[in-house]
Amino acid sequence: MTLRIDRDRLWRSLMEMGRIGATPGGGVGRLPGTDADREARDVFVRWCREAGCAVTVDRLGNIFARRPGNDPARLPVMTGSHLDSQPLGGKFDGAYGVMAALEVVRTLNDASVRTAAPVEIVAWTDEEGCRFSAGMRCSAVFAGTQDLDSTLALADPQGLTLGAELARIGYAGPEPVGGRAIDCFLECHIEQGVVLEAEGRTIGAVVGAQAQKNYEIRVRGEQGHAGTVPMTMRRDAMRAAARMIEAVIGLAWRFDPHPVVTVGAVHVVPNARNTIPREVVFTIDSRHPRTAVLAELGTAVRAACGDIARDLQVGVEIEQTAEREAVTFDPALVQAVRDAADRLGFSQRDMFSGAGHDSCNLAALAPTAMVFVPCEKGISHAENENAQPDDLAAGCDVLLQVVLERAGVAR
Ligand code: GLV
Ligand code: MN
Ligand code: MN
Repeated sequence: MTLRIDRDRLWRSLMEMGRIGATPGGGVGRLPGTDADREARDVFVRWCREAGCAVTVDRLGNIFARRPGNDPARLPVMTGSHLDSQPLGGKFDGAYGVMAALEVVRTLNDASVRTAAPVEIVAWTDEEGCRFSAGMRCSAVFAGTQDLDSTLALADPQGLTLGAELARIGYAGPEPVGGRAIDCFLECHIEQGVVLEAEGRTIGAVVGAQAQKNYEIRVRGEQGHAGTVPMTMRRDAMRAAARMIEAVIGLAWRFDPHPVVTVGAVHVVPNARNTIPREVVFTIDSRHPRTAVLAELGTAVRAACGDIARDLQVGVEIEQTAEREAVTFDPALVQAVRDAADRLGFSQRDMFSGAGHDSCNLAALAPTAMVFVPCEKGISHAENENAQPDDLAAGCDVLLQVVLERAGVAR
């Protein structure tokens, strides 16, 4: 008989996790390195230990919970996601992948299934990248594509660093980051788009993810009194930033298909009603399946911001803060996801991920694949993010099958 996960237990874990950092609008706000992050980690670690796992934490606070295998020569089958969220985020983005991994281990325990390879659950630190302004960096260091020291030194707008905040919450662990091999990486995630729901399908076998380039634009003007400085004499950083933001977003329409371009964060100095801002810093997040389109967009962004700065006599500095190539996941592992969905009788389709995921980094280290499930109206990065218990269970059942296939049942 096919082993199945416990749908209701998975849902209960998600709802319990969703109470940590709960927001009034029904979502969660669990920025990395905050007290809510610590609380979520503590609960996760306790649940993993109760499930018989050995828990380790590396210097970036990535948490690993290992269920041993019978064959000491085998590399671990790793699965998980992230517990941090957007400031006004949902209960499922990230937490689903971590709770699904835990549910797989609990199911193996209940059925007394021994695997040949160890199964390792992971909760990556700061996947979202909306406090320390990078995102997915801690899995990138694990995978060997980013360096440790610059990641620990990433600072939030108050100047607090990731390293210091991890130490404050007790999750700057002793283990080195990465430098070890794994058999493969698997991640369950809500789709965060409308495709599966619109087509009435249950499983997305994710074949890859789009490229990304992020920027921070710093506009420098001159501070002054809102009531006394004549309009003709101002070097208003806000007016320049407003024009730049409209121009940058508008650039998306130059390309077909459009890249997605988002200005999601603006920092104003001194941020007072009756003072002309001397500085405005805003972020640009740009994504497209083709890296070349993003390069062309980047050139156009620099030109547009430069022209506006000259026109309004302000200074402008443009820093590229992240660059990620498009990713193709491992064909054999993606096929294993498709096969498992077929065997379990779930409708499915191949998909490309619009969002970034830690899986994109892990793909550089080991065979990697993702399992998507529908979410309501495709809404994500929002408090009203929602998903159905049956769909979440279906994705977790697919994960269980692929984990069993990769880890091998011990004899
Ligand atoms: C994370 O959710 C991202 O896609 O930026
Ligand atoms: Mn996520
Ligand atoms: Mn997210």
